[in-house]
Amino acid sequence: MDAARLDGLSIGVATSAFQIEGAPTADGKGPSIWDEFTRVPGAIADGTNADSATGHYERLDDDLDLLAWLGVDAYRFSISWPRIQADGRGRPNSAGLGFYDRLVDGLLERDITPLVTLYHWDLPAALQEPGGWTARDTALRFADYGALTTERLGDRVASWATLNEPWCAAFLGHHAGVHAPGVRDDQAAVTAAHHLLLAHGHGVEAIRSAGGRQAGIVLNPAPVWPASDGEADHEAARLVDGVRNRLWLDAVRHGRYPADILEAFGEVADLSCIRDGDLAVISTPVDWLGVNFYHPEQAAAGGDATPAIGPGLDGITQPRIDAERTQLDWPIHPPSLTDVLRRITDDYGPLPLWITENGAAYDDAVEADGSVRDDARVRYLDGHLSAALEARDAGVDLRGYLVWSFLDNFEWAEGFVPRFGVVHVDYGTKERVPKASAHWLRELLAARGA
Ligand code: FCB
Repeated sequence: MDAARLDGLSIGVATSAFQIEGAPTADGKGPSIWDEFTRVPGAIADGTNADSATGHYERLDDDLDLLAWLGVDAYRFSISWPRIQADGRGRPNSAGLGFYDRLVDGLLERDITPLVTLYHWDLPAALQEPGGWTARDTALRFADYGALTTERLGDRVASWATLNEPWCAAFLGHHAGVHAPGVRDDQAAVTAAHHLLLAHGHGVEAIRSAGGRQAGIVLNPAPVWPASDGEADHEAARLVDGVRNRLWLDAVRHGRYPADILEAFGEVADLSCIRDGDLAVISTPVDWLGVNFYHPEQAAAGGDATPAIGPGLDGITQPRIDAERTQLDWPIHPPSLTDVLRRITDDYGPLPLWITENGAAYDDAVEADGSVRDDARVRYLDGHLSAALEARDAGVDLRGYLVWSFLDNFEWAEGFVPRFGVVHVDYGTKERVPKASAHWLRELLAARGA
């Protein structure tokens, strides 16, 4: 990678609260649905939970120094809602806000731009009792939480994302049941998707009225390839694309749901949760859009591959893509990132885009000489960064690229086995060791100024 090509691009790393912080009851924090989900027998592949995670809550200053050592321009992190409101409503917990206050100030002191995500899946458990995202009220509670958080931090935070990957929260959480709250019910999945989007729209309004700058949302769009040239596979790919991509982008950017997806959802659920005026709220103009990208998808009509995820996709499967793979068995295909960025620009208009997550899991270990040789991750990142720059050369308004992740962390239902960090974490001692990819990133960033 030629560092000169990075000119004008903000480069950094990303994390989320639940995956790194630990300290689940510190300073008045309440439980989240993920704290509870990790207690369900069999829910987490390696049987672990995130009670201590990487110990980031206690190691904030050291981690800030590590970010400064990396030389990143920007750091994307999320705020744990139950640290701010233990049961999801009412007065803010000043100690909880204090942690993020110190984080933001610590970043600014080190000349690193803070990028905040308000919701990275850790809903206060108390809000799950009245229905969680299937309850319309949760969208309003989210807006309150967004407003009071922006009031405290908005003078220093450069940009705000309302939600991270609502596709996952809605469909992994309420259709496949493999993420919190572990529900398998198409009605719940459809309703949760709509209420998440409603929360986003109200959230944008709340951020702005509390004086926050640069409000946006982070989605996980991906190309969906038909498994063959046949008409049935093309139709399958169109529906999977609708549930994965168009549902969210059409709603946020065009203020409507795609007709084919409404029809597919209508076959498995009642759509009365969608009320007059909701789509106007959902399409409140955003200042930017975040793209989390890992790999393309493939779809087939029938067959015995893994079932496609989402309501209204019965009978559709997702055959394996033939490519080199990461530890999580995810295929590696950098040109798909170029495609995704170009498509969003072509179909949804010019808009500042950030790659808010991109990275790969490998089974990294610290060698006897103290090094971590994650050359495969360096190749993955280099290839995807080049693919992103290609999209920029083609006219995409790309503003930033953030590596997932800063630290190895708790990978949701997969537990601690997949390692996504450029910095290795020993989960026993919490010792941090920068991997070869961290050195690569640091040198690349330093070379820009040279
Ligand atoms: C994304 C999530 C992030 C992390 C990566 C690997 O879907 O936003 O928290 O788990 O996948």
